[in-house]
Amino acid sequence: VVVNLGSANHDETRWREPERFDVFRRQRPHAAFALGPHTCLGMHLARMETRVLLEELLVMPDLRLDPEAHDVHVTGLTFRSPQALPVRFS
Ligand code: HEM
Repeated sequence: VVVNLGSANHDETRWREPERFDVFRRQRPHAAFALGPHTCLGMHLARMETRVLLEELLVMPDLRLDPEAHDVHVTGLTFRSPQALPVRFS
């Protein structure tokens, strides 16, 4: 059995506008790090890394998605991500 955690975390009956990236979203329990005896052992490190990444990225002046980039789409079943996310600094 392969559980699609990404789908659970995009459940529109639980999350308002689940497809919108919103760093200010009200925190609620979610399944990104799994649940139960196999809950992710590295979740505290992963959260810290993500916080540092966002703190550094979001203050970069003129950082924006590359409007000429194409074929940016999210793939994967257990772990979902784009292969690349081209950005511009001007
Ligand atoms: C955003 C980053 C991460 C996400 C979304 C994530 C997510 C998950 C998920 C969903 C599982 C359960 C897998 C399963 O039951 O089949 C898991 C397990 C695990 N993760 Fe992570 N993880 C992340 C980062 C990390 C990091 C940075 C480490 C270690 C430094 C780590 C170590 C582990 C370990 C050791 C398990 C196995 C736990 C067990 O089976 O008892 N993870 N993770």
